[in-house]
Amino acid sequence: MHLHTLGSATLLLAISSFAFAAAPTPSPQLATCLKPLGSKVITSKSSAYAQQRYAFDLRYTFQPEVIVMAQSETDVQTAVKCAKQANIPVAPRSGGHSFEGYSIGGQDGALVLDLTGLNGVKVKGSKAKVGAGVRLGKLYLELFNQGGWTINAGTCPSVGIGGHALGGGFGLLSRKYGLLIDRIVEMEMVNADGELLTISATQNPDLFYALRGAGGGSYGVVTSFTILPVKPAPKVTSFSYEWNLSDYAKVLKAYVNFQPTASRDVGVEMNVASSGLELYGIFQGPKGTQSAAMASFLKAAPKPRSSDVRESRQIDAQLRFAFVEGGNNDKDINALALQPPYHPGDSRYTKGKSLVYPSVLKSSTIALLGKWAAKTPKGSTANYIIVDLWGGAVSDTSASDTSFIHRDAHTVFEFVAEWDESSSPKPGKPDCKDCLKWMNDMYSEFLADYRANYSTSVRGYQNYIDLAMPNWMDAYYGQAVPRLKQIKASVDPANVFRFPQSIPLK
Ligand SMILES: Cc1cc2nc3c(=O)[nH]c(=O)nc-3n(C[C@H](O)[C@H](O)[C@H](O)COP(=O)(O)OP(=O)(O)OC[C@H]3O[C@@H](n4cnc5c(N)ncnc54)[C@H](O)[C@@H]3O)c2cc1C
Ligand SMILES: *[C@@H]1O[C@H](CO)[C@@H](O)[C@H](O)[C@H]1NC(C)=O
Ligand SMILES: *[C@@H]1O[C@H](CO)[C@@H](O)[C@H](O)[C@H]1NC(C)=O
Repeated sequence: MHLHTLGSATLLLAISSFAFAAAPTPSPQLATCLKPLGSKVITSKSSAYAQQRYAFDLRYTFQPEVIVMAQSETDVQTAVKCAKQANIPVAPRSGGHSFEGYSIGGQDGALVLDLTGLNGVKVKGSKAKVGAGVRLGKLYLELFNQGGWTINAGTCPSVGIGGHALGGGFGLLSRKYGLLIDRIVEMEMVNADGELLTISATQNPDLFYALRGAGGGSYGVVTSFTILPVKPAPKVTSFSYEWNLSDYAKVLKAYVNFQPTASRDVGVEMNVASSGLELYGIFQGPKGTQSAAMASFLKAAPKPRSSDVRESRQIDAQLRFAFVEGGNNDKDINALALQPPYHPGDSRYTKGKSLVYPSVLKSSTIALLGKWAAKTPKGSTANYIIVDLWGGAVSDTSASDTSFIHRDAHTVFEFVAEWDESSSPKPGKPDCKDCLKWMNDMYSEFLADYRANYSTSVRGYQNYIDLAMPNWMDAYYGQAVPRLKQIKASVDPANVFRFPQSIPLK
């Protein structure tokens, strides 16, 4: 934890044990430095603190020393300079969905830089400039409203573009257009000295490399992204097929064998749970051609117990899958643009882990999926494994062009346990022990299978960041690590941007 001032060792110890109960408050110097930001500064003395100190995952109760609700790049610059001077870490927060609570610091005593106020989306010609606090739902809606555009990114509308884009960004258009980072042409970033930099292939190219894959929280605060939006097909087909879990072996075999030859117009994810398997996705084309695109899979798989195939606009298909987990069947696309305040209404208790598979899944891995999905830990409200079909355009970019190394990914697993689901859950409740046990026991079997049958260097997806990931730096960044450290040492030698899994100086 951060210690504000120098003092005797005993006094400091006394302060740290008290800090467990009492939230940290900014030192007088820091408070003075932040004064120009006025009411945008939230401390533990402000009434807004209780709401703003939490993010999406309510397991995390780290106590920020101060929260700055930035409204402009200048606010970000001021806040970063003050944090550096006070020697406290800066935690940028876009959508707040970090799996380890890193956008509230990942530890007590950070300066949380909330970017919700940087929420503009402006399409100009073939480019869109997007504020770093924009959430994906609003992004989709704005791109649609400003000329019928969309972008290849994730399905959950409350995820922020900030963390999502800087760790890759995978979604149902990724097999056609790649990851979200592949359509970023420029960024603006406030560095540790409070300078606003333009970052592109020609300006600060080292940062352009580092931010596209390893950018979440380690190098600076990105304030805007300039992206190349895409035009979806005029009519798309959204679909969902369900099977009983007892059919898992045949369904999953058909699914993973489908990947190498699947059309890039097909974006799909498979949810594996005790209630059954659900394949859902969006095909870029009318219903008449969707069945042909899915034919090789559907022929090889058993007959689904149910199916729901609909032709619509892309934006309607996005709405259809946006709230799958929340069960919101709103027909109004404006629902995509969730309104603040997001916390803690848009929150839950959850633990996630991931694995990136470099080749077609083997039968032993499929058997593990069937085995672990069948279990329902006591206290869990949902526990499942999502198997995302990667490939296609994701692998068009070379693994050395950006710091995102998983270009050869065949499938990516997201293991999820959730508990205490309610419309307005209270933060800081005890963990669901059985849910975590399910997760850990399951994961260790998948790890053993991975090491025996795929590779001894296990890989995970950094957007599903996990403090317990074995050898995490290599698992997330592999061959990019030496260059990432070099860039870190040159742009942030004071390590202002630090959290438990930030890129280290050496
Ligand atoms: C419900 C849910 C659904 C998801 N669906 C998908 C999906 O479909 N596809 C997918 O690829 N991923 C998905 N994810 C993972 C998601 O991409 C990551 O959790 C991502 O990091 C969240 O971004 P955020 O801005 O919401 O989170 P935050 O917690 O705000 O940020 C995550 C990390 O990035 C840093 N960061 C945030 N903004 C900036 C910035 N502007 N500059 C520098 N650093 C910054 C934070 O400090 C933190 O370390 C999902 C996650 C959840 C919880
Ligand atoms: C799926 O499971 C249900 C409930 O056990 C059963 O009634 C049904 O016949 C099963 N369907 C298929 C296609 O196996
Ligand atoms: C994977 O590894 C395990 C453990 O060594 C082994 O039992 C299993 O048969 C392997 N699976 C395949 C498909 O080779």
